[in-house]
Amino acid sequence: KKISIIGVPMDLGQTRRGVDMGPSVIRYAGVVERLKNIGYEVEDRGDIEIGRPSELDVKNEDNLKDLDVVVKANQDLADGLTDVMNEGNFPLVLGGDHSIAIGTLAGVADKYENLGVIWYDAHGDLNTGETSPSGNIHGMPLSVSLGIGHPSLTEIGGYAPKIKPENIVIVGARSLDEGERKLIKEKGIKVYTMHEIDRMGMSQVMEEAIEHVSKNTDGVHLSLDLDALDPHDAPGVGTPVIGGPSYRETHLAMEMLAEKGIITSAEFVEVNPILDTKNQTAIAAVGLVGSLFGEKLL
Ligand code: ARG
Ligand code: MN
Ligand code: MN
Ligand code: MN
Repeated sequence: KKISIIGVPMDLGQTRRGVDMGPSVIRYAGVVERLKNIGYEVEDRGDIEIGRPSELDVKNEDNLKDLDVVVKANQDLADGLTDVMNEGNFPLVLGGDHSIAIGTLAGVADKYENLGVIWYDAHGDLNTGETSPSGNIHGMPLSVSLGIGHPSLTEIGGYAPKIKPENIVIVGARSLDEGERKLIKEKGIKVYTMHEIDRMGMSQVMEEAIEHVSKNTDGVHLSLDLDALDPHDAPGVGTPVIGGPSYRETHLAMEMLAEKGIITSAEFVEVNPILDTKNQTAIAAVGLVGSLFGEKLL
């Protein structure tokens, strides 16, 4: 199957500048070559164009920063994804901050009745303008995709919701806001926090997570926020939280997904080279992409 790469140089879903260079540094770390070496046909469709607001980081009356530009870019991304899906290719999206998952899911979920989602992240990204402590839209894409939040976000792609709560699993969580906890309980969203990962080990957690998202679903999207990894292994992220899974554990998670062959689309987000050490986080992302697509040492 052919892999189509779309870059989304988005940094307006949060306030740490530099994450807009994510797609470029992940390319620099060799993502295309890596996939070709595994034996895939790869096309790089380039980047979605991101507008610039006249003034950065201004919250509107609904506690949403740079809403209009984030909406426009995500709509364009959703359209780009629709083209990739219609061509029958595997979409691989490179961020950019996590607000771009809104557009990715809008484009991908349209083709699936019951899309499963693995949200590999230190955070839940389940805020709304009402619950968000920051007004940063990168903390909201999962709730938006559930149809919860500002209509100009939830209606991207022209339909809502994109996904169902029972088809989601969050892995790696260790920072949740009050409103997010409430939503998780209310919707019964499956979450493997660091507690479960410590207790059961990544292997068992992934077995269960895979089982959960492949039950009653017709496709599975992987949304991998590099801040899920411990900052020791992935320092180049805007909202690091100590105490995460290592590169090795995450690598194992990717290999287990590859073995089961359940992933039908993926995105890697939040790589910020300004905050990084010698492109380490982008290099980690490319290693994880490799194992997700079945790379083997022997
Ligand atoms: N929960 C915090 C917020 O809403 C942090 C979100 C971080 N999200 C991310 N995609 N890195 O602002
Ligand atoms: Mn659908
Ligand atoms: Mn995160
Ligand atoms: Mn995130």
